[in-house]
Amino acid sequence: MQNQIMKDVKKLLEFYQALGFEGLPINPPSPPFSKGGQGGFEKEGQGGIKEADLKSLREEIGDCKGCRLSKGRTNIVFGEGNPDTRLMFIGEAPGKKEDLQARPFVGDAGMVLTRLIEKMGFKRGDVYIANIVKCRPPMNRDPELDEIERCRGFVERQIEIINPKVIMTLGRISAQTLIGNAKLKITAIRGNFFDYKGIALMPTFHPAYLIRNPKDKWLTWGDAQKVMEKLKSKG
Ligand code: URA
Repeated sequence: MQNQIMKDVKKLLEFYQALGFEGLPINPPSPPFSKGGQGGFEKEGQGGIKEADLKSLREEIGDCKGCRLSKGRTNIVFGEGNPDTRLMFIGEAPGKKEDLQARPFVGDAGMVLTRLIEKMGFKRGDVYIANIVKCRPPMNRDPELDEIERCRGFVERQIEIINPKVIMTLGRISAQTLIGNAKLKITAIRGNFFDYKGIALMPTFHPAYLIRNPKDKWLTWGDAQKVMEKLKSKG
């Protein structure tokens, strides 16, 4: 029995090694910025201003009818989290639960994302979570290019207001939109930093993809570790 366990552990270690890991992420590394509590973000004193700016952006969006997605939505899903954060997550578009609750990533994919955030040493409320498109596409289809174009100004303003140190994009569409290249393949670009207006942008897999392909969670965890290193770094 013990021999078998040792053999299994050895196999597992070889697997991680083949994926490029030098150690097992059994304990999340100590939080890169501890002043705000376990993995939290220290308030920089701008939270109030940023919060007010986000609120006026939300008011500006109002009951937006800028594209056909407005017809099928229950709620606009603006985004939520700590306006003073140094880490933003940007997904694609709300799904059914998000549409009903007016909150991003509250369904199954949201559970995977929340677990990743916590594994990184944060609480969900420490970071900011938003989507490229603020209304649910029918039957959860991909948002179309004209819908993205109508909406992208909103997420760009959210990023400008929050001004995080790092953005993690979730899935192909948010990476393509913010990097500005609709031909990029997520499998080719994930794990590499890009520049978004002076902010480090790390594309990774969408949590819904990870539900279908759980073995790739380790790749996403590798991407997250690079993000944590970046957050710790001075540059
Ligand atoms: N998928 C997304 O891209 N965003 C959400 O808010 C939920 C699921």
